[in-house]
Amino acid sequence: MKNGLTSLESWKALDKHYQETRKTSIRELFRQDPLRGNSLTLNAEGIYFDYSKHRITGKTLGLLFKLARERNLEARRAAMFSGEKINTTEKRAVLHIALRAPVEASIVVDGVNVVEQVHEVLGKMQAFAEKVRSGQWTGHTGKPIRNIVNIGIGGSDLGPVMAFEALRNYSMRELTFRFVSNIDGSDFAEAVQGLDPAETLFIVASKTFTTLETMTNALTARAWTLKALGDETAIQKHFVALSTNEKEVAKFGIDTRNMFGFWDWVGGRYSMTSAIGLSTMIAIGPEHYRQMLHGFHKMDEHFRTAPLEKNIPVIMALLTVWYNNFFNAQTQAVLPYENYLKRFPAYLQQMTMESTGKYITLDGHKVDYQTGPIYWGEPGTNGQHSFYQLIHQGTKLIPCDFIGFKKSLHDLPPHQDYLMANMIAQGEALAFGKTADEVAAEGVDEKLVPHKVFEGNRPSSTFLLDQLSPENLGKLVAMYEHSVFVQGVIWGVNPFDQMGVELGKVLAQNIIAELQGETKPSKHDSSTNALIQAYLRK
Ligand code: F6P
Repeated sequence: MKNGLTSLESWKALDKHYQETRKTSIRELFRQDPLRGNSLTLNAEGIYFDYSKHRITGKTLGLLFKLARERNLEARRAAMFSGEKINTTEKRAVLHIALRAPVEASIVVDGVNVVEQVHEVLGKMQAFAEKVRSGQWTGHTGKPIRNIVNIGIGGSDLGPVMAFEALRNYSMRELTFRFVSNIDGSDFAEAVQGLDPAETLFIVASKTFTTLETMTNALTARAWTLKALGDETAIQKHFVALSTNEKEVAKFGIDTRNMFGFWDWVGGRYSMTSAIGLSTMIAIGPEHYRQMLHGFHKMDEHFRTAPLEKNIPVIMALLTVWYNNFFNAQTQAVLPYENYLKRFPAYLQQMTMESTGKYITLDGHKVDYQTGPIYWGEPGTNGQHSFYQLIHQGTKLIPCDFIGFKKSLHDLPPHQDYLMANMIAQGEALAFGKTADEVAAEGVDEKLVPHKVFEGNRPSSTFLLDQLSPENLGKLVAMYEHSVFVQGVIWGVNPFDQMGVELGKVLAQNIIAELQGETKPSKHDSSTNALIQAYLRK
């Protein structure tokens, strides 16, 4: 059966509506409805969501909600929450929401209440985290652990790094946290720079425990540890594993009592609340970690229960579809006005682009419409002095997400007011711009007027929260997770597999053997052959 998205009534109506309204500016929309800045907002779970500065009317929203219903969003959402195997290409349930479900909840997959399993692992993580934090967990020589190095890549790295950076202010400052992901030896070399192996714990984070980058880094870490500590038994004290693959963990030499498990229904990029969060828990402590889970859960519940019209992730996703498919916007900027969220855009890149960067639909057809946009961003105000020029006066339409907090984590006036004034001003400038008349009225030289005009009409959403806390971080991450899910439902792609990363991995394995002289260079194309030859002429 063909996907049929573009032949839906609502899609056709949206197309027509786009043709009719595409020339209406945000300025004009505010002139027609001066109070839309109040009405096109939501206040849910402590998040004030302003979506009034978008090129939408009530009719646009009505049609987008109709589209969501025609794509059976509510039923798809219920299917995910109930543990149905909605990741059909991998025949798996998708239950990151179970990772933050309260202990009394029950979600049954293949006859097992997975919430019970989740809390068992959480308890084990807590016991371990407390031992490390209190200095009770000692290394091979009896010294307490002071350095934690997380080795992982993709979802086994980006979540832990992002969460550590985001919650650094809540972290135990006596401990040092480093993260190694890249197969480039420089990453490992720098991560262990200055660390004493006797005080260093490696967390090997890998769902599959077969990923080339992670296994190579883990073996290097093993050698680094053994070189200093001499004895194989040191591994038990200096390595723990986060994985679903007990067999490979044991093969590596890690005591499986020091393995923290998770399950195939946790996707890598949705895994930061699984055992993959161990480094986060050690950093911020079990209590803060539980607050973070609570934040996730609150947003899960909001997404699960709020009607589409009052549902933050649903509205976010539908706006993305509106720009991506009707305005042909190619990208989505995420601009946190909170320096601790500096890795948030990078984290979102995997979550969004590995999820919806697909041209094949769930039923195996090639799409005849655009799917996943490119997510990118940097914290404000740094971005303002870098790429905002293009957002304001460039030729591309870039919808922006501004994320800000009312309170800073530091009592350093006037920083916070300056920061937030900038965020609010950017949304205003992007939406309303500055006309030629307004520029001329300032006495600007006639020739310069066109250069100083801001067309405006650049859409943005603003998310305003109280303060960056573990709970609020949880809400923000879950908000994007569910938005991606909704996007997947609309586009009819599977946001939970990632087959597009496989080919490169396989080809790299062939080339590794060639570079190391194990196999004769096989016949590649002339470009690839020449590159291999050039590399080998060292
Ligand atoms: O890049 C592909 C991928 O499978 C990601 O989805 C995943 O997060 C990452 O590799 C790491 O995988 P693992 O946790 O199994 O090492």
